Amino acid sequence: MRMDRRQFGLLGGQVAAAALTQRAWTAMAAPTGADKFHFAVVSDTHIIDEFYKKGSENGVEDNTSILLTSERLIAARTVINALQPKIEQVFVPGDCFHNYPSADYDFYFKNRTRIDIAKELFDGFNMPVHLGFGNHDYDEHRTPGISRDMSNRLFEAKLKTKPYYTVDYKGFRFLHLNNFMGRSWDETSSPKERQVGTLGEEQLNWAEAQLQDRKPTVVFIHYPLWVVAPTEVKDYGLHPILRKYQDSIQLVISGHLHKWLDFAHTYGPQHYVTAATRYDQNSFMLFEADSKKQTLRWMNRDLVEWSTHYSKPYTFRS
Ligand SMILES: [Fe+2]
Repeated sequence: MRMDRRQFGLLGGQVAAAALTQRAWTAMAAPTGADKFHFAVVSDTHIIDEFYKKGSENGVEDNTSILLTSERLIAARTVINALQPKIEQVFVPGDCFHNYPSADYDFYFKNRTRIDIAKELFDGFNMPVHLGFGNHDYDEHRTPGISRDMSNRLFEAKLKTKPYYTVDYKGFRFLHLNNFMGRSWDETSSPKERQVGTLGEEQLNWAEAQLQDRKPTVVFIHYPLWVVAPTEVKDYGLHPILRKYQDSIQLVISGHLHKWLDFAHTYGPQHYVTAATRYDQNSFMLFEADSKKQTLRWMNRDLVEWSTHYSKPYTFRS
């Protein structure tokens, strides 16, 4: 593909920014070791395709940002890929792509859609990328034919991703939970019910079994905890489980709201909502994990502009 001057300028700017970031990062980050590593969180990427109908969001900000999602993810990726010591894992707590252009399963195998584009973009990271599900990765409008099962099958076929799963790495455990598997998101639920996330008893049992190992754990779940049903079966549910294992859960990270929020220890373990690369290419999280000391350091925390979409570029750190 030939690049025009604007595209070339953009790329040049990204490369320069990445070089500066790398210098700042190298000065700050500890060397990688058997029990020390770095990971990033990139959320709500909302990738679209040529089938997307422009102007279908609410308001100017949403309609503008949705057209820039690939560009912004690439900018974030350029920085993350350039860091030394390396970022070894990337986690995406949902809304990987943005809604469904067709209710026909085969459409996604006859056309290059946002799901394929998202896959290509995530494949461009130099490290493994672990995706989670958001409400836009399902069809929240309940278009006939686009069932939860169809989304799960597409995720499996195209993105090689299960509805929920564990990643164990250098003594840490990462849980990708899915708050769309329970009763509030079944085929008959109303739009109001779907405002609340539920996991379902099977997933809750699975999550508790993962937590019983008491490894230092990071939990990802698309909906912030205040809109996840506290309990689902009598007094059993995600909130009491998180409290029970709060000593080993280092962090719970959600997306969905697209703004930086700090819920501190409201739900037991520290809970943050991460902003979205959809609105700001600088809005991603970088962490240093130490499984020997059982600690996590959020490296670009001071750059966050709380309660907004935005974060200062890492390069501005002296
Ligand atoms: Fe989102």
